[in-house]
Amino acid sequence: MGHRKHLQECCRLYGRCGQIDINIKRAIDDKIIIDISDTGKGIQKSKIKDVFLPGYTTKARGWGLGLTLVKRIIEKNHDGKIYVRNTEINEGTTFRILLKS
Ligand SMILES: Nc1ncnc2c1ncn2[C@@H]1O[C@H](COP(=O)(O)OP(=O)(O)O)[C@@H](O)[C@H]1O
Ligand SMILES: [Mg+2]
Repeated sequence: MGHRKHLQECCRLYGRCGQIDINIKRAIDDKIIIDISDTGKGIQKSKIKDVFLPGYTTKARGWGLGLTLVKRIIEKNHDGKIYVRNTEINEGTTFRILLKS
């Protein structure tokens, strides 16, 4: 069993825990790629387009502003991009950030 799968199985058996991996690399075109992967609950495919919208939250006391602010800073202040690269229900999500070097 891979490290990640093993962790997910432990979380399922023993309760709340998780891992966030951050992977930074440089693309051939010199862009900086930052992948942020979690072992969270994942995002429904039909909701991927909603997560960056202001006010969208699935939390009881959420504001739905976190990702809106992140996207704004990356796009307006750094001329970059952020998007959901991959997500699987009950497995986790990877966000990708692209920055010019
Ligand atoms: N890493 C993630 N994994 C799964 N769902 C996420 C993740 N990040 C954000 N979301 C979804 O997007 C919604 C909006 O996130 P965010 O803008 O940070 O606002 P909030 O945290 O107040 O809900 C969350 O409520 C959740 O449904
Ligand atoms: Mg948030």
